[in-house]
Formats: sequence, C-alpha cells, structure tokens
Amino acid sequence: MLRINIGSLKPGVKLGKDIFTSNAQLLLPAGTVISNEHLQSFKSRNITEVFIMEASPKLKSEKKFDDVYSDSLTVVKSFMLEAKLGKPLEMDEISDTTNLLLEQVFDAGDLFRQMRLMKDKDDYLFTHSVNVALLCILIGRWLNYDKETIKELGEAGLVHDIGKVFIPDHVLNKPGKLTNDEYEEMKKHTVMGYNLLIQSEAVSNNIATAALMHHERADGSGYPMGKKGYDIGLCSSVVAVADVYDAVTSTRVYSTKRSPYIAAEILWEESFGKLDPRISKVFYDKVTNFYVGNEVLLSNNERGLVIYVDPTQPTRPVVKVGEKFYDLNKDRSLTVMEIID
Ligand SMILES: [Fe+2]
Ligand SMILES: [Fe+2]
Repeated sequence: MLRINIGSLKPGVKLGKDIFTSNAQLLLPAGTVISNEHLQSFKSRNITEVFIMEASPKLKSEKKFDDVYSDSLTVVKSFMLEAKLGKPLEMDEISDTTNLLLEQVFDAGDLFRQMRLMKDKDDYLFTHSVNVALLCILIGRWLNYDKETIKELGEAGLVHDIGKVFIPDHVLNKPGKLTNDEYEEMKKHTVMGYNLLIQSEAVSNNIATAALMHHERADGSGYPMGKKGYDIGLCSSVVAVADVYDAVTSTRVYSTKRSPYIAAEILWEESFGKLDPRISKVFYDKVTNFYVGNEVLLSNNERGLVIYVDPTQPTRPVVKVGEKFYDLNKDRSLTVMEIID
C-alpha cells in the first residue's frame, strides 16, 4: 500500500483504505477505482492524501531509485564540469533528469530512507544538488503546486549551486571554518550561478533567481544582497528550505551530519524572520512523521524505538529504550542524534 498526494493521483487506481469525511461518514470504501469525479470531490473536500493499493506502472517509475540517483549524479557532474569549461548549459539534459526524479518522489518516508542510503555516495556538491532537487519536488507536492511549478522547482534544485564550480577548491572544500575573505569568496557562487544561468534562453527567470537568492533571509542577514522580506519568489524560498535541510542532514568537509529532528528544529527556528514560514512550517510538520517504528540514537548514547510523535511537537517524539520511555517533549535535555537503518 502506498500513501500518495492527491496531486499525483491518476484515475484508474484502486483505493487502499476507506476515506471518511470530516464528520466521520464513509465517503469511499477501500477498493474503489478512482475516477475523475472522485478526484474533483477530493479537491473540493480538502482531502490531500489517500492510500492506494499499489503503485501502478504509470505512477511509479520502473526504474530503481539508486539507478536514477546515480544517473542524476552523472548529469550534475557533467553539466557542472561543462559550466566550468565555459560551455553552454544543456537544459534538455537537466529537464530529462528532473522528469526521472519526479517519478521517484511519491512516498516521502521511502524517499527519506533512500536518500539516507545515498548520502556520501559522491562529492557533497553533486549529491547535495540531487538531494535539493528531490526535496524541492517533495515540498512542491506537499504544498499541492501544479505540475509545471513542481518541475521548475526540481530543475532549480539541481542547478541552484552551479556557481560553486567557479569557487576555488581550497575555499569550497576547506575542512574548517572559512576566514572572512574566504566566506566573501564563497558567497559569490550565487551571483556567478545567476550570471551563468541567465545566459541560457532555456533557463527560466525563476530558476536563475533561485540560484541568486537561495541564501537570502527575510531579516536581511542573508546574501548576496541582504534583501529584506519574504518576496524572493517561490522557487528561491523552496530551494532555501531544501538547501538548509540537506546541508544539516549531510556530512560535509567541516561538519558531520545531524538528524532530521535537529534539521526540523533549525527550520522551525529559522521560520521566524529568516525562511518563508509557509514552506518551512510544512516541512517541520511533516518531516519527522516517517520515523515511528525506526531505531534512533539519543544524545545520551542510548538506542531506542520511536513509538509516538505528537503532531504539535513533531521533533520531540516518545522513544522506548528497553523498558524505559523517554518523552522528549518533557525531557528537553535529550535529542534524537541519528536515525539507525
Ligand atoms: Fe548555495
Ligand atoms: Fe546549496
């Protein structure tokens, strides 16, 4: 059985679980074959997700996630190398890769697990680009954006850090804190990426702007312009959230990866005055829901199982360690340090 967003649901698929109205009346029983009329009725009733019997071939790509991920890494490497050599950007390749990634983003729990397995598979810049593309697509689906917008978000995610190919290696891969001068150098990847992307007619203005603006923050603390307010555009705002989440949960040359719970708490804190709260809030609400039943490592070095997530405090679950129960909502000194597969 598969949980799927209404935006991705196609007629002809069989329902996996009963659907009830908000006043607990049965709307459709499990086994119903979904029609166009049903899809309309879901939208009018604000039903955003349903369970379906299985992934139909039309819904889920036959391609395996790790194959698509590896192919995407190859494409990212090649367009970044070509950009470095001054060759024009092949937007067709980026568009085709995004189409393949779109087919992989249906079940968020599965996606997060797969992405964890792919981490450290290649240089951070390449895996980060693919991860941000996948997360942008996921956010687009969670927020029920239309197909074209979601595709554009995926493409923006793939190319958002393309300007980093122009940053000297000793700055880009420095295994320690950057000096002020080095940080100023690093910041230029935004403008350099924008300047490169804008030269290609096939690249939309939203995508080029996302490369320029994904480090801007509403309180003016971001770069390159220190722009204030949330009007940096949808694409830039989504890339900014996906970028923070992937950076926190990845191992980088100067920091080790942190758990999705810590990343979600950072997104929550940044939704006050930095990141667009409409986007960071949806991420915060949803991202920790997928680990009920997972084994985790706590900050006191004990391992346990996540057994309950309070929707109002999604980053503070109840964890069972042997016969003990830790309620992280009450015990604020504890955090989930790692998800154990
Ligand atoms: Fe960046
Ligand atoms: Fe980035």
